Amino acid sequence: MDVLDFRSYFTPDKQVIYSLLLILLCSTVDSTLRYSIREELPKGSVVSNIANDLGLDTRLLSEGRARIVCEGTQQYFQVNTKTGVLLVNERIDREGICEETAKCLLYFQLVIENPLQQYRVEVEILDVNDNSPSFPQREFVISVVEQAVPGTTFPLERAQDLDVGVNAVQNYMISQNDHFRLDIPNLKDQNKRPEIVLVKQLDYEKTHTIRLQLTAVDGGEPPRTGTAAVQINVIDINDNAPVFNQSVYKVKLFEQNAKNFVAVKVTATDLDDGPNGDIIYAFSHISDAMGRIFKLNNKTGEITVAEPLDFEDRNIYQMEVQVKDGGGLIAYSKVVIEIVDVNDNAPEIILTSVRSPLPEDSSPQTVVALLNVKDLDSGGNGNIRCTVGTHQPFRLMSSFKNFYRLVTDGHLDREKVSEYNITVTAVDDGSPPLSSTAVIHVRISDINDNPPVFSKTLYTMQVSENNKPGALIGSIMATDKDSAENAQVSYSLIEEMVKGFPISHFISINSDKGNIHAVRPFDYEQFQNFTFLVQALDSGTPALSSNTTVKLYIIDRNDNAPTLLHPSPKDSSFSAEIVPNNAEGGYLVSKVVAVDADSGQNAWLSFHLQKVSDQSLFSVGLHTGEIRTIRKMTERDNTRHTLIVVVKDNGQPSLSATATVKIVAAENFSGHYLESTDKEQVGEFDSNLTIYLIISLAVVTFLFLAFIVLLLTLKAYRIKRSVFSSVPDQNVPSSNIVSFRTSYLDSLARGTIHQGYLREVQAKVESLSGGSKHLDPNKGTIYAGNEHPMLIDINNANEFLQDHQPAANAIPPSHSSYQRVQAILTRPMSTDWQEG
Ligand SMILES: *[C@@H]1O[C@H](CO)[C@@H](O)[C@H](O)[C@H]1NC(C)=O
Ligand SMILES: *[C@@H]1O[C@H](CO)[C@@H](O)[C@H](O)[C@H]1NC(C)=O
Repeated sequence: MDVLDFRSYFTPDKQVIYSLLLILLCSTVDSTLRYSIREELPKGSVVSNIANDLGLDTRLLSEGRARIVCEGTQQYFQVNTKTGVLLVNERIDREGICEETAKCLLYFQLVIENPLQQYRVEVEILDVNDNSPSFPQREFVISVVEQAVPGTTFPLERAQDLDVGVNAVQNYMISQNDHFRLDIPNLKDQNKRPEIVLVKQLDYEKTHTIRLQLTAVDGGEPPRTGTAAVQINVIDINDNAPVFNQSVYKVKLFEQNAKNFVAVKVTATDLDDGPNGDIIYAFSHISDAMGRIFKLNNKTGEITVAEPLDFEDRNIYQMEVQVKDGGGLIAYSKVVIEIVDVNDNAPEIILTSVRSPLPEDSSPQTVVALLNVKDLDSGGNGNIRCTVGTHQPFRLMSSFKNFYRLVTDGHLDREKVSEYNITVTAVDDGSPPLSSTAVIHVRISDINDNPPVFSKTLYTMQVSENNKPGALIGSIMATDKDSAENAQVSYSLIEEMVKGFPISHFISINSDKGNIHAVRPFDYEQFQNFTFLVQALDSGTPALSSNTTVKLYIIDRNDNAPTLLHPSPKDSSFSAEIVPNNAEGGYLVSKVVAVDADSGQNAWLSFHLQKVSDQSLFSVGLHTGEIRTIRKMTERDNTRHTLIVVVKDNGQPSLSATATVKIVAAENFSGHYLESTDKEQVGEFDSNLTIYLIISLAVVTFLFLAFIVLLLTLKAYRIKRSVFSSVPDQNVPSSNIVSFRTSYLDSLARGTIHQGYLREVQAKVESLSGGSKHLDPNKGTIYAGNEHPMLIDINNANEFLQDHQPAANAIPPSHSSYQRVQAILTRPMSTDWQEG
């Protein structure tokens, strides 16, 4: 039996011993040598003395050319044939040969050629802890959401150790940390991996990453380790809502700020990262109106004012702002914007009503306008004082705050001021104060308070007689200070009787223009002037009027030739003047009497001797018409003479009449000589004439008295009637007497003229007037009763006389052939007269 002594070669190792025992057991059975050696022995290391182990002579080995035949290509062993020692030929890596096989055996044969014999040798390679554990990656990266719950496991990779047995990985460890522990799997189960287990919740906001070291430890002596890094990335989740830094943002803004200025900035923060921390601002629930005014920058949180702010519109704005992060979490805040008033509004004057036009007779305190004022500003900025100018008759009365009545403060007169611009000024109490004005235009309407006023109180007009009907005499004019129809003046004649006729019988007036026209031709010889009233009436209601007096003078024209009264042209052949044949020079033979109906120069008569039988005997007074003897008459002179006297007036052109005067010279005869009659007849004629004259005078006196009585009766009756009828009947004439006094008649009354004249004059006057005129020798007055009365205003009679005085003065009344006529105009006594 071969017993191998390993002790000298091997370190006392349990495995080796164990192997040797196996070899010993086996060699007895099949003579296989068994050895065990550690791996990684250096080359030349002695495994054993194989010769001794086999009990072979070393010579046999050397002579028999013993050699090792290995299985495989690698010659791990060799034998020293001289000594019989088995040596390691090259490094033996157990892991390289057997990998993870737990028992790694190498086989070879010792072959001896002479004699040929072979021995089988089995060498067990024992593991040495020459490999450290190693992880397949140097770093593991694990992502963990921060909200992962504790207990969540995260598997890692196993570490690899080429060594086997105890030299393989025996344990894992992880570096100290708060959040994870290591769960070591059952090492026998190759499918199990080490896991890290979350033991405490992660917070991304505190820790973004955790780095750990994972260590694998094998069981070698000393143990070897392998490490790998474990990076744990905490994944943020949106676990933080954004937060505003103020719950309420309060700002005060002055109104009228510039556009787009930043009113307030809201700020919110979100602890989350990335999209979860991306915050967006927005208004939540904002009215359209406010949305137009305020704009919110959704990134910066700035609220800008897009439109001017007006305190008066709104003085406080409240809005909610929300902020939202990427994860959808929302927070809210409140923004309160208070607007502070600035005196930016002038007071406003609102005219509620205006009374225009305003009647000029409005009493003081009449309300002209109602107005109210307002100011959109508040406080003192909105306190208003309201005034009107003091120079106008208006003032403001406040009924209650900010409401005013504009009332008249005095009497108005449209004729002085026809319209007012009343300026109302409203001032507020702001600083600086703002004011505004309103002009109230008030027209004053006319009231008919001014009567028309004539430009003269007395108009004097004149018209030449014989005017054409309708001729313009003159015009009057009245003005009225009122306006429109109150100033529209119409003219009319005031109805009254003039010379017994209604005034319209003589003149008419143009009611618009005030032109006065003659209705008919005037005759100066009928009347020289008259007065009438013209009324100007305006068209107001009630209408006002005023009167003016127009005095119309009719101007004489030389339209009447002188009329001979004596001797009458008709009966000249019949009568003759008788002159004593012994008459002295200067004897008044006769007087040519003529009248001229005209007046003034036109009636100024002159007498001229046109033809005379004896130039030396008679002369005629130029102005007196007296025919006188120039010298003493003698017997030799003719007893019969004929004189032709021309009577001329002084008009332009002058009119004339001729008188033929027959003169008979008689002896001691002072009476009137009648041609172709005998002396008796003449004497009878004279006495008859005297009787007639006396009778007629008596009759005339009686008639006159009767007439006066009748007149007084009528007048009394009329007054009574007018009292009852209450119709004023002015200017009732006292008579219709025409006083017709002539110098001639004067002389008659005084008896200076020969009686012979008187009869003739009476006859002449009768024939001249063509009607029944009666001569009153006492008064020298003619009473007229015909249809052509001498219409001379009684009131103007004296004036008339004065007007014509020069002519009368020029000639002594007792010798004048020029006639003074005093006429008394009276109203007609009978209705016939009025109609006539
Ligand atoms: C009032 O104002 C109006 C309009 O400006 C003007 O035509 C008128 O002349 C003024 N009247 C007075 C009296 O000032
Ligand atoms: C004008 O005269 C008429 C008639 O005489 C009279 O009725 C009227 O009152 C007068 N008017 C005035 C204003 O004097």
